[in-house]
Amino acid sequence: MTAKIVCVAQAKGGVGKSTLCANLCVTLSQSNKVLMIDCDPPQYSLSAWYQVRDDLYVETGLTLTRASTAAQLASIIDKNKADYDYILIDGAPHVTPLVRAMLLQSHLVLIPLAPSSVEIWSFSEFEGLISKAQKFNKNLNARIIWNRVRRRVKSSEEVMQKTSKESKIAALKNQITFRVAYMDSFAEGPQQVYERNDSGTLAREILVFEFCG
Ligand SMILES: Nc1ncnc2c1ncn2[C@@H]1O[C@H](COP(=O)(O)OP(=O)(O)OP(=O)(O)O)[C@@H](O)[C@H]1O
Ligand SMILES: [Mg+2]
Repeated sequence: MTAKIVCVAQAKGGVGKSTLCANLCVTLSQSNKVLMIDCDPPQYSLSAWYQVRDDLYVETGLTLTRASTAAQLASIIDKNKADYDYILIDGAPHVTPLVRAMLLQSHLVLIPLAPSSVEIWSFSEFEGLISKAQKFNKNLNARIIWNRVRRRVKSSEEVMQKTSKESKIAALKNQITFRVAYMDSFAEGPQQVYERNDSGTLAREILVFEFCG
């Protein structure tokens, strides 16, 4: 087995990287061996979430580790890639050497974006970073994932349409809507949307893996 390596990255803070990463890990771990790497020092919010689950003895089938340098990340991936189906990496909201290393090691970068003009302003610079990384890492696919989408809001629809015309990076068909359940489930730790009883729609949203190539 050679792990598919997916990172969740965006230069902007608070766009939903860790929430998405946790939910994807839980969903994928239902039928795969998943390793999570928290690359967001010093806040390490994915680790805090994982600790809450662990303290409550939630059977996760997930393993979590941390990396704070590019060398550490490379060594963790090297040691583990033969033992896992997926390695998911949560990144920091800045462009750091560690974020660059994530992009150089991954097969897919998922970029959460909220459909508002303010979020899009900072995106073009990050897009430039991804194209640079793709020159060195020919295996790197990139996909936008629209997050905190409010249905039937005209301005959101316009931002998504404009981005799809102007950006070289395509968006996944699945969109994550704005829901309190995402906030609650991340903070509570034990159950992610896939595991909540009331989660039919949410679980479907998070099954984003029409994996790109
Ligand atoms: N789809 C969603 N609906 C509602 N709230 C959401 C959604 N996705 C994320 N959030 C909320 O947005 C906030 C930021 O999310 P999160 O911590 O995952 O972002 P982040 O990009 O990892 O932040 P940072 O850059 O600080 O690491 C949290 O309060 C989270 O619960
Ligand atoms: Mg985060």
